[in-house]
Amino acid sequence: MTLLVTGGAGFIGSNFVLDWLAQHDEAVVNLDKLTYAGNPENLATLQGDGRHVFVRGDIGDYGLVLDLLKQYQIRAVVNFAAESHVDRSIHGPEDFIQTNVLGSFRLLEAIRAYWGGLDEAGKSGFRLLHVSTDEVYGSLEKIDPPFAETNQYQPNSPYSASKAASDHLVRAYHHTYGLPVLTTNCSNNYGPYHFPEKLIPLCIQNALAGKPLPIYGDGQQIRDWLYVKDHCSAIRRVLAAGKVGEVYNVGGWNEKANLDVVNVLCAILDELQARADGKSYAEQITYVTDRPGHDRRYAIDAGKLERELGWKPAESFETGIRKTVEWYLANQDWVQNVMSGEYQSWLDKNYAERQA
Ligand code: NAD
Ligand code: TYD
Repeated sequence: MTLLVTGGAGFIGSNFVLDWLAQHDEAVVNLDKLTYAGNPENLATLQGDGRHVFVRGDIGDYGLVLDLLKQYQIRAVVNFAAESHVDRSIHGPEDFIQTNVLGSFRLLEAIRAYWGGLDEAGKSGFRLLHVSTDEVYGSLEKIDPPFAETNQYQPNSPYSASKAASDHLVRAYHHTYGLPVLTTNCSNNYGPYHFPEKLIPLCIQNALAGKPLPIYGDGQQIRDWLYVKDHCSAIRRVLAAGKVGEVYNVGGWNEKANLDVVNVLCAILDELQARADGKSYAEQITYVTDRPGHDRRYAIDAGKLERELGWKPAESFETGIRKTVEWYLANQDWVQNVMSGEYQSWLDKNYAERQA
């Protein structure tokens, strides 16, 4: 029995592979294109572990995916592979359409071909778990209830629109061809191996480097935050016990305004690695031009996952964010390595034109 994980060298995918192999003996084939966001260093502790096979390749490569499915007699696919950063999707949507829409479509086609050739037991036991985001539901007003699985899709960014398209394709392959799929829509993750273009790791690094902590607009945009290892446990639970064809929202019940998140980070850093001048890192907070079309609020109702599959997050925001800051302080070599090269040109592109 083998699992095919796509995008398993990225932030959530690599946490998932590491946690999976820490808890199961079932092998993992890890298919990742190694874009700027994919980093084999995340998986360094698996070197020499025969249960992990890394393959550099594209989910849109139908022939490669079909070969892997057959060669390793895959019994489930967990699809993390995607372009994932909203700001990049605003600067250049094309890659998002390529991977999130066309890539997902070709992945589905390869899976359909493989699955169609399995015997009845193989067919009914097979699963495709598609990992998606709460951003497909659009933006909430302050008084709105959190997103339920039944909410209408109203994606507002090229990123969320491309993820919505892939969710729809996954749904259609179940309804039309009977493919045994599961979809999870999760809120904002944070934790180890988070690429430092996203708010939390970016602010930790900028704080330590004495740089501005860029807050888009008024900083009152709200996100629900989930510690990445809780997302991984939710995926394991849905894969094991989720009802075929169903969608499960995953969230941490942790709604926070961006400014509050950054202030919490500063307070933990003040305690663990105080600034040389004794002032708070919060002094580095700088308001910059807002993101175009910035969604105001996301919030997740994860009640279905708790009621039907008994899943709950293990970490509160307070415990998870402290672990995260500690991880970044202890893993500065990892950060320095991912911040070389392409990352610097992204910083120039995204922040140079934002007025402070
Ligand atoms: P990430 O950008 O850190 O990692 C994506 C990985 O996919 C990288 O390793 C990259 O090399 C790989 N990849 C990209 N295009 C590929 C392709 N065509 N073929 C094969 N591999 C490819 O993203 P992440 O934050 O780990 O997110 C993983 C998944 O979870 C995504 O589908 C994302 O939409 C979803 N998600 C993310 C969050 C979040 O807060 N980060 C929240 C909810 C859902
Ligand atoms: P991000 O980590 O990019 O995740 P997402 O856009 O998928 O929610 O951003 C989280 C929030 O932080 C979002 O409201 C945008 C905001 N943000 C900033 O205020 N400054 C920044 O430099 C970045 C990267 C994000």
